[in-house]
Amino acid sequence: MNRNRPVAVDLFCGPGGISTGFRNAGFDIAVAVDYDEAAVQTYEANHEQSPLHADIREIDTEDVLRIVRKEGYEREDVDIVVGGPPCKGFSLANMQTRSPDNPMNNLFMHFLKIVREISPPVVVMENVPGLLSMGKNEGEIKDIIVEELREMGYTIQYRILKAERFGVPQARRRVFFIGVLEGKPPFPSPTHTEAGRQATLTALTDELSPVVTVGGAIFDLPELPTGGGGSEVMEYDTSPHSDYASEMRANVDETLYNHETTINRENTVKRFEHVPQGGNWENIPPELMENYTDRSRTHGHIYYRLEEDEPALTIANFRKSMMLHPTQDRLLSVREAARLQSFPDVYRFVSSRISDKQQMVGDAVPVKLAEAIGGAVYDHLKARGYLEPGTQESLS
Ligand SMILES: C[S@@+](CC[C@H](N)C(=O)[O-])C[C@H]1O[C@@H](n2cnc3c(N)ncnc32)[C@H](O)[C@@H]1O
Repeated sequence: MNRNRPVAVDLFCGPGGISTGFRNAGFDIAVAVDYDEAAVQTYEANHEQSPLHADIREIDTEDVLRIVRKEGYEREDVDIVVGGPPCKGFSLANMQTRSPDNPMNNLFMHFLKIVREISPPVVVMENVPGLLSMGKNEGEIKDIIVEELREMGYTIQYRILKAERFGVPQARRRVFFIGVLEGKPPFPSPTHTEAGRQATLTALTDELSPVVTVGGAIFDLPELPTGGGGSEVMEYDTSPHSDYASEMRANVDETLYNHETTINRENTVKRFEHVPQGGNWENIPPELMENYTDRSRTHGHIYYRLEEDEPALTIANFRKSMMLHPTQDRLLSVREAARLQSFPDVYRFVSSRISDKQQMVGDAVPVKLAEAIGGAVYDHLKARGYLEPGTQESLS
């Protein structure tokens, strides 16, 4: 059996942000699992293998291992189980029994059950930082995750990583739990500075690259009509304008996919016109917001217009929050959001519904952040002798 690439299992794989980053870092993805049709279709369009299209609550570890074997590996060959179990629907009541057999149990427990039964040398779990304070005593959930993994023999640490410090043009924070059976959990070192002028100056002395800005990430993409539009397929009309754009456009022909966005009504577009870069719904005259149905939820991210000279705010539900292009009066396109998540332009998001594509892009782990973590895990596996001598170097 060829052990020249470490082997990963990606649970809750979504459109494949983690899988793509880990592949770039030198991993093979033996199994990916998701229950969402659009996520599975998108994954298939961009990766060699099809994910297991299933609800993780309804499969057992043997279903995962069957695919591992079909791919030519054994359970012992799995080097990492990685994934981000969504915390939606997470119920503390469900935690009381801590039993994965409880039908009311939650997705974390299913993730942990599969980890327990595969027992890979490394486990990585991603989530929103809010997870750290969930539960009783401000953090009971985190404590349970740590305790469960410790019981399985893992040394475990968690850290909040800032995506912009790894070359992603977005100030996204996510917590990563990394557990290892041997040694210390490997976290990647930042390669880029933080946002802000002072940080850019520090970068010069620290040998960090300057943060990638929204303008640097997306301004070579064709202009779209005010209010929305753009089609599934069109052509680029300029050359790449930055190193980041060149990198994103590697291996594409003239065809540009997914530069599509929601079409908004005229009175909604009128609201857009009042919002400066860095502004939000508060810049919109109240008379234009009268019939806004969702005023109770008008926090600072609603109708936020991105600043061209900074990394983006978190691209999560950018459609629902109406995130605006820095200079055009329309929402971000799927491709622009994908660029801000560091998905290369060859990566296509597939669904008959644009809302699915917007959701998938926003939910993913940024490729470059996943690649940085994959690189650190790769180096850990190599240093600990899990890879055969003469294996290929990490690409990260
Ligand atoms: C945050 S997204 C994952 C993003 C992914 N890690 C990436 O980097 O692209 C969470 C995914 O979990 C999937 N999911 C939620 N509940 C699930 C379940 N019970 N079984 C399988 N997949 C599930 C959703 O369909 C969604 O694609």
